[in-house]
Amino acid sequence: MENELALLGGSKTIDKPINRYNSIGAEEMEAAKSVVESGILSRFLGCWDEDFYGGDKVREFEEAWRTYFNVKHAVSVNSNTSGLIAAIGALGIEPGDEVIVSPWTMCATATSILIWNAIPIFADIESETFNLDPNSIRRCITPNTKAIIVTDIFGHAARLDEIMEIAREYGLSVIEDAAQAPGARYGKRFVGTVADIGVFSLNYHKHIHTGEGGMCVTENDSLAERLQLIRNHAEAVVEDKGVTNLSNMIGFNFRLGEIEAAIGIEQLKKLDGQLDSIICRANSLTQGLEGLRGLRTPRVMDGCTHVYYVYPLVYDAKATAVSRKRLLEALRSEGLRIGGGYQNLHLLPLFQRKTAYGTRGFPWKFFDPEEKISYAKTICPVAEELHDHTFLVLPMCLFDYSNNDVELIIKAFRKVWRNLDSL
Ligand SMILES: Cc1ncc(COP(=O)(O)O)c(C=O)c1O
Repeated sequence: MENELALLGGSKTIDKPINRYNSIGAEEMEAAKSVVESGILSRFLGCWDEDFYGGDKVREFEEAWRTYFNVKHAVSVNSNTSGLIAAIGALGIEPGDEVIVSPWTMCATATSILIWNAIPIFADIESETFNLDPNSIRRCITPNTKAIIVTDIFGHAARLDEIMEIAREYGLSVIEDAAQAPGARYGKRFVGTVADIGVFSLNYHKHIHTGEGGMCVTENDSLAERLQLIRNHAEAVVEDKGVTNLSNMIGFNFRLGEIEAAIGIEQLKKLDGQLDSIICRANSLTQGLEGLRGLRTPRVMDGCTHVYYVYPLVYDAKATAVSRKRLLEALRSEGLRIGGGYQNLHLLPLFQRKTAYGTRGFPWKFFDPEEKISYAKTICPVAEELHDHTFLVLPMCLFDYSNNDVELIIKAFRKVWRNLDSL
């Protein structure tokens, strides 16, 4: 029975639930408690005052982040989504401007563009790392293009140097959405620190977290100031602060609380340890899955480290004559948590129907009345093929895999591969 597939009546390889990952411990409890005891849960004021920059813990967390990532400015926010919105605004993106973005990222990467009434343009990805393909970016550039948001998807850097080179050639700004890649290396630099502004997520299913939260980083003084203004009611602050560039000085409340910041300080101390263990587990998986016909384990580009927010695989059904759907059924029956496909943001109803604000097609109808901008299925063939047919994904950050769990995952794969003929 052990050799027979669970799908066909055999016993399951993984028959116990895998523990959820929990990085919150005594240090975070103590940090949160001391904030509660102080009675100061936030100290932001939405006016030009010494509390405009927030309380002690927010400032300490930003300083710790700045030091760890070796950047000039770190500006905390209450989510990566808020950080992306602040970043687009800070760059001075105008309504109707086009911003190039990947279809393989979380929806907020694209909707942050729409918040400023600018237009997301989806470039295709490359199949090696699932990041934006520089050649496809080039093909998407028009006279209206003003910026690129490049996501370092799944924990591996995009081709950042090439993308920055294109940006320089065309005078475009670049935002790095490094939500899934804190601590990943790109040569000597950290992922998230290469573009004009980088944005990290601190939501609960990331490598380190504060429940909800985010951090923007930049080397540019003026961008840092604009991020701080948009984070905290810019419109009420600019006059007293003497800010004269009023473009996009409509602020939000994107402020991080003191409890979250205090937890973030402790979490950041744990980042190196978390990365070591996640990379170690991913490497064991790669070793154990090597040589399975038609299965491609994650690629790591020269000079990069992969921090495996998830563990991405590519499956070639032609090599096995078993469809991805059937393979997934077999793997899931063995007790494996595994997904097929990822996002294709251009296919969301929002873009298919071009309905964002109200019901009259704003902003597309207003800025693109001839409907030159297309979100048709076909505009991103590599992303679409991967999503529809070949991509597989194992969660990593969500679970606390023991060595035994990793062995069982490998065992489940190997069992399914030994029995491909029976599927
Ligand atoms: C690539 C990417 N961008 C943006 C976000 C949004 O992050 P947050 O939940 O902190 O707003 C996520 C969250 O999963 C993400 O993975």
